[in-house]
Amino acid sequence: EYVLTQKDFVHKNDLNYPFEERGLQFGDGIYEVIRVYKGRYYLIEEHVERLFRSAEAVKIKMPFTKQDFYHQLDELLQKNKIDTDAKVYLQITRGSAPRDHAFPLSTEANLYAYVQDLPRKEDLMREGVSTITQPDVRWDWCYIKSLNLLPNVIAKQEASEAGCFEAILHKDGEVTECSSSNAYLVKDGKVYTHPAKKNILHGCVRMKVEQFCKEEGIPFIEESFRVEDIQFADELFLSSSTAEVMPIIEVDGKKVKEGRPGPVTRKIQEKYEKDAK
Ligand code: PDD
Repeated sequence: EYVLTQKDFVHKNDLNYPFEERGLQFGDGIYEVIRVYKGRYYLIEEHVERLFRSAEAVKIKMPFTKQDFYHQLDELLQKNKIDTDAKVYLQITRGSAPRDHAFPLSTEANLYAYVQDLPRKEDLMREGVSTITQPDVRWDWCYIKSLNLLPNVIAKQEASEAGCFEAILHKDGEVTECSSSNAYLVKDGKVYTHPAKKNILHGCVRMKVEQFCKEEGIPFIEESFRVEDIQFADELFLSSSTAEVMPIIEVDGKKVKEGRPGPVTRKIQEKYEKDAK
């Protein structure tokens, strides 16, 4: 089980993290979660592009070029002999230095990337999941995939304690996204989702959902919906690299329509399935 670091591959048991590390002390870093199907990356360019955009936004100097990174990520799968469905988690922090809020003058970014088996959530995708709503108390720059996930962690924990899969986040009633996925509402055959502004993460699967809708002639409308709109929705779903396209059948204990995944969600799931193969 090899982990990719900024220097080389190390065995996971030999990975020592420094005592003063900006990722640990400040959450001063960025991350990605990339899906792997049968040993091959899905949407890798989208993830690497977003990683570099996040780095630029928080002024982290990337320790490698995009081209080198693609090679290293391939090597990560090869070294670990991955031929299953999996995920790669990677994070890059501003590095290690004596604790001070301001950036250290000369510090190299720290990378680690590892791969873990992740079977597809086939049962949930067939049946759909329950959710709760939670206030979105995050900052204004959620388009940056930053390590600061405490609000997301707390919202997800609330969902978990309610026996639910996800928390749908809203700012003053306006739905932004979920704690670790994007959110969509279907009404009269049209898909509504929050515009890709700075206050949500621009999901890689979201880009695909948009493409699938366009290919199928399903209007993809980047207009946010409100918590009160959910009771009138025909369908609701969420998307992420780990949950794929997931039907939402319940919100705050109330069924969405008849409490079954709907045809638009099914269509998008089908398209995803084909695309990911
Ligand atoms: N989360 N919104 C948020 C807040 C997320 O954390 C994620 C992904 C998404 C979906 O992005 P994508 O389609 O690129 O996976 C939307 C990952 C899976 C995580 O934190 O584990």
